Amino acid sequence: MLLRRDVMMESAVSSTHGAEDSLVVQCSESEDFAPSKLGTKEYWDEAYKRELQTYKDIGDVGEIWFGEESVDRVIRWIEAQHVSENAAILDIGTGNGMLLVELAKHGFSNLTGIDYSKAAVELTINILEEEGLRNVKIQVEDFLNPSTELKGFDVCIDKGTFDAISLSPEDREEAKKHYVTSLRTVLQPGGFFIITSCNWTKEQLLQIFNPGFELVRELPTPRFQFGGVTGNSVTALVFKQID
Ligand SMILES: C[S@@+](CC[C@H](N)C(=O)[O-])C[C@H]1O[C@@H](n2cnc3c(N)ncnc32)[C@H](O)[C@@H]1O
Repeated sequence: MLLRRDVMMESAVSSTHGAEDSLVVQCSESEDFAPSKLGTKEYWDEAYKRELQTYKDIGDVGEIWFGEESVDRVIRWIEAQHVSENAAILDIGTGNGMLLVELAKHGFSNLTGIDYSKAAVELTINILEEEGLRNVKIQVEDFLNPSTELKGFDVCIDKGTFDAISLSPEDREEAKKHYVTSLRTVLQPGGFFIITSCNWTKEQLLQIFNPGFELVRELPTPRFQFGGVTGNSVTALVFKQID
């Protein structure tokens, strides 16, 4: 299996798709950043159709958003909490499913991935099959309108999906609210929500997921220095659902 890893590095912005396709270039100091095609289903369908074809042609799994380290960081935290290997874990907007692959390789056995792009789901199924990982559930679902069966998760993980949804050219405020409502529905009370974002700062995420969620931990991400200012290009937070 080939890996086109770290297409979007955390410390340096680079993308084989060109700058305009990077989530990072959408990041802004302002709360009101511009809508983008990255917020549309058409964009992701096209992107994953291409990635699926590339995978079939040459076995390249495609992009790991925010790089491999973002996967390792999430898994390290889950393992450090001694989360049971049977815990129900949901990857929201799984893309090529590489987070699920790594979780399965670390022994987690109750994994579900969803994505609203059928091509992304097909790509994930192909990769899981190739890896011999047969008991990962993977389904086409729009997280803003999830099926009633999608519930009871102990851990929900989002890497770049809330960012994409926040870029919707439609009613973004509504989309963000729907996201929080869906999250409250699918996650067990007391369950963990681990989000990696480049579009939202820690302070903004705290506001968006309040009330309903309390911050448990900020996961360290690489820091940059520019013009005397120090900051993080990526934010990774762990929340706990509270009543
Ligand atoms: C930036 S990519 C991240 C993919 C993957 N999480 C990763 O880290 O590589 C955003 C993903 O969210 C998916 N997505 C966007 N909006 C969605 C929605 N409303 N419901 C389900 N998936 C969605 C896209 O199809 C895409 O796979």
